[in-house]
Amino acid sequence: MSSSYESWRSAATNRRPTHPTDNPKIPGPIYADLDPAPRPKPVIQLLAFGFIIFLGLLQFLPASHFRDPSDPYRKWVPFNSDASSYSTSKDGGNPTLFRANDEEEGMVHVVSWMDCLDLKVLAVLANSTLSSSRYPDLVHFHFFTPQGDKDKVSFYKLKVLFPHSNLELHGQEEVKEMIRTATSEAEYDSLKFEEIAPFVIPRVHQSLRKFIYVSASLILKGRVEELAGIDLSTHAVAAAEDCSKRLNSYVNSDVLGAIQRSTSKPWASVTPYVKDTCMPELSLLLIDARKLDKEFLEAVLWWSKVLNWSDRSSKENPAITLALYNRYLKLSNSWLVKEPASLEIIEKSTVVHYDGPKIVCSEFGNDTIPGPSHGNLWINYLPSMSNQILGS
Ligand SMILES: *[C@@H]1O[C@H](CO)[C@@H](O)[C@H](O)[C@H]1NC(C)=O
Ligand SMILES: *[C@@H]1O[C@H](CO)[C@@H](O)[C@H](O)[C@H]1NC(C)=O
Ligand SMILES: *[C@@H]1O[C@H](CO)[C@@H](O)[C@H](O)[C@H]1NC(C)=O
Repeated sequence: MSSSYESWRSAATNRRPTHPTDNPKIPGPIYADLDPAPRPKPVIQLLAFGFIIFLGLLQFLPASHFRDPSDPYRKWVPFNSDASSYSTSKDGGNPTLFRANDEEEGMVHVVSWMDCLDLKVLAVLANSTLSSSRYPDLVHFHFFTPQGDKDKVSFYKLKVLFPHSNLELHGQEEVKEMIRTATSEAEYDSLKFEEIAPFVIPRVHQSLRKFIYVSASLILKGRVEELAGIDLSTHAVAAAEDCSKRLNSYVNSDVLGAIQRSTSKPWASVTPYVKDTCMPELSLLLIDARKLDKEFLEAVLWWSKVLNWSDRSSKENPAITLALYNRYLKLSNSWLVKEPASLEIIEKSTVVHYDGPKIVCSEFGNDTIPGPSHGNLWINYLPSMSNQILGS
């Protein structure tokens, strides 16, 4: 082997300098038995192979960083970084929204319920929520309407007005069915679905965990992600307190005292009820369904029953208030719904009542003509095309 190599070398070195262009037609000697490439040591081969496998396996490691799609700088954020450190990098944005283990990268779910469909009211709610939000891309609406997802026309109308929004229409039947099976007919008829629905919806739609429940006839001017980011600690519900309404104007304190002393139900307070407790504002709630008591619906229905509420359906039912008694986180007063009575109130408030014309359900369940408007604020939250699309 080495001898043939030597002879090839000597032939080449001998020939080249002497006759570089001589007889080009005569090829040089061909040596078929060239040495194979030097073989690397098996250990090195094994190491290299192992290294490639190692690189391949790296991709199976869990992701450690993510980028917020709405962040203009597309900064990489570690998944397990302290939530507060991230919020400082976002100039004091919302802390818990982007918490590491929060599913779906901090979507804010906004849920609403409407007994009779009124697209204009929904459009004002969606527009006000989106235009006040810092990250409108992360807002996801779930509107529970009589026809729900079967009503494609309404869905597309809303989609035309809010093309970039995440919104879904859901039916109400499953939620109503769950309430119906737990109640007698008289009780069922006396219930206000709009009030009870937020506590039943997460049992039907289990993917909804932490969400904001908002009455459709509100105009939201505060940032929903700030509300959604509030830490509920052990509570399942957060609500603002409305001290213009006191418990004793809805339920007789003596009757309530007697019930409290004689019952052993787990949801009744062990200490006497404070009779002038402020009522929670039920039209804007933050709910963490994972912490919601399984018996919550039962507790509400029980209170309705012991107070004979089906006999006097005209008055506001305190059953939900009693079921929530001492069990909800009190939101700051800024989240209390205000009446848009003056420009000053409107400017300062984070949430006000819808003041436009509104379709009211008749007692037959069919829609009536829209009532009169009480102000002009709502007009600011109707996209310009909405009259053509929704009809005026
Ligand atoms: C409810 O009605 C029952 C019988 O109709 C009566 O015994 C009870 O005292 C009533 N309860 C209240 C709180 O009014
Ligand atoms: C609603 O239905 C009732 C009975 O079905 C009917 O008498 C009433 O006129 C209807 N109202 C409207 C606004 O359609
Ligand atoms: C909300 O409505 C106003 C017009 O009143 C419009 O300028 C704005 O673009 C709308 N915002 C959204 C998110 O649709």
